[in-house]
Amino acid sequence: MEDDKDLAEEVRRLKRERRAVVLAHYYVDGAVQDVADYVGDSYGLAKQAAALDCDEIVFAGVRFMGESAKLLSPDKRVLMPAPDAGCPMAAMADVETIDRVRAAHPGIAVVCYVNSTAAVKAASDVCVTSSNAERIVAALPQRQIFFTPDRHLGHYLSEKLPDKEFILNPGFCPIHEAVQLSEIEEVKRAHPEARVLMHPECPQWVLGEADYVGSTAGIIKQAVEGDAPAYLIVTVCGVLHEIEKRTGGQGKRFYFPRTRPVCPNMRKVTLRKVRDCLRDGTGEVPLPPADVCTGARAALTRMLDLAR
Ligand code: 13P
Ligand code: SF4
Repeated sequence: MEDDKDLAEEVRRLKRERRAVVLAHYYVDGAVQDVADYVGDSYGLAKQAAALDCDEIVFAGVRFMGESAKLLSPDKRVLMPAPDAGCPMAAMADVETIDRVRAAHPGIAVVCYVNSTAAVKAASDVCVTSSNAERIVAALPQRQIFFTPDRHLGHYLSEKLPDKEFILNPGFCPIHEAVQLSEIEEVKRAHPEARVLMHPECPQWVLGEADYVGSTAGIIKQAVEGDAPAYLIVTVCGVLHEIEKRTGGQGKRFYFPRTRPVCPNMRKVTLRKVRDCLRDGTGEVPLPPADVCTGARAALTRMLDLAR
């Protein structure tokens, strides 16, 4: 049976042969991040996907990410090593709810978190990620905003942008919602010098404990560039791989809540599956139907334009 070193070598060879580029989210296994050409947060990876010069994109992440890459790069083959890796939050929003909200509130702006299906993106005015949501929503001319699917990110934005009026869809990330306040307090008591870095998918009763709230890329930047000796990181623990790579020798300490946040869907993406999909050409992401494609691409492209 091949070990990680053999698999990584094979992946590198297959990438060259197939003119393929591997994109990986910070939440996937470190061994997968190590063979990727680009590792990033949802926004960084969407930007990359729109600008790549290659024949194939292998997307090491969950389904909405591969689908967004396909929408932004429709002429490339997009392969997913774990096509069954979905994001449960994306299943918590639907087009019917958007239609109902639009009918009840004419003129409202519909803003969807990128963790959503192509159909929901197509029914929205603009897409956002955790790293650009505040900036994009602030720039919208409408005062009334329907934010979907994530009620926690939506609530966080409503506090940042008090001039806007938000209606929130009741979706959430099961991993970030499960973070326990008592476990945050426990680490803070034991390590009062630790700076607390949190993802805005965390619920408001936990976010109140944060010194910094931002996307995975933002959290990593704070941990790498910050002058605190220790950090409590409140997001999926896959981010530690990049943080440790970039802080080697700095002597900083990193803590997580006792129940370490793990995303079971991101964990489905293994190095072996990356190799298999490159070798066998499996897990191809289909282009959604033409009408959905046009609308979803418009929402994503508007995000890329407004976030610039
Ligand atoms: P970011 O990549 O925007 O930090 O979002 C995290 C996430 O939950 C991706 O599913
Ligand atoms: Fe979805 Fe949460 Fe996993 Fe991100 S961490 S992919 S939001 S389930």
